[in-house]
Amino acid sequence: MRRAAAYTLRVNGEQHVVTGEGDTPLIYFLRNDLALNSPKFGCGLGECGACTVIIDGEAARSCALPLRLAAQRHIVTLEGLGSTEALHPLQQAFVDAQAAQCGYCIAGMIMTTKAFLDSHPAPDEAAIRDALRFNLCRCGTHLEIVRAVALAARSWRKSANSGAGGSGG
Ligand code: FES
Repeated sequence: MRRAAAYTLRVNGEQHVVTGEGDTPLIYFLRNDLALNSPKFGCGLGECGACTVIIDGEAARSCALPLRLAAQRHIVTLEGLGSTEALHPLQQAFVDAQAAQCGYCIAGMIMTTKAFLDSHPAPDEAAIRDALRFNLCRCGTHLEIVRAVALAARSWRKSANSGAGGSGG
C-alpha cells in the first residue's frame, strides 16, 4: 500500500516540507504545493524537457524524478534565477534574441542552458546544439534559442571579466 509521508524540499534557497507519496513526480509538488509554475508539464515521460529544473547543479526532468529522490537536494527553478525587475543574463539573452514564441518550452530551455553554461562557459554552436538536443520546441524557434544561448555565454563572460558576476541561481 502506498503511503504519504513528509519530505523536505530545498528549492531556490528555501526549505519546504511537503506531504505526498514518494513515487509522485517532483513537478507536482513544485507547481501545486509551492506555486512554482515555471516547470511545465509536456510529455510527462522525461523526453521533451519542458519540466527541466537544476538539481545539485545538473539539469533534471522534474516529471520523471520521484519526490523521494528529490528530497534534501538543492533544486533551482527559473523563479530562482531572476525576477521581472531584475532578469538573469540568460533570461535577458532569450528576450534579446526573441527566442520565445508560445514560451511553453522556454523555462526548460533556460534551465538546461544554465546548467550547461555553468560547466561550459565558452561553447561553440555545435556544443550548444548538442546540449539542447533533448529539449524540444514545437513552435520551431530552435535557431533563435541557439542564438540566445550564444548571446548569453558572451554577456556572461563579459560580466565575469568585468567582475560584475551575474551567474545567479
Ligand atoms: Fe518532463 Fe516532458 S514534461 S520531459
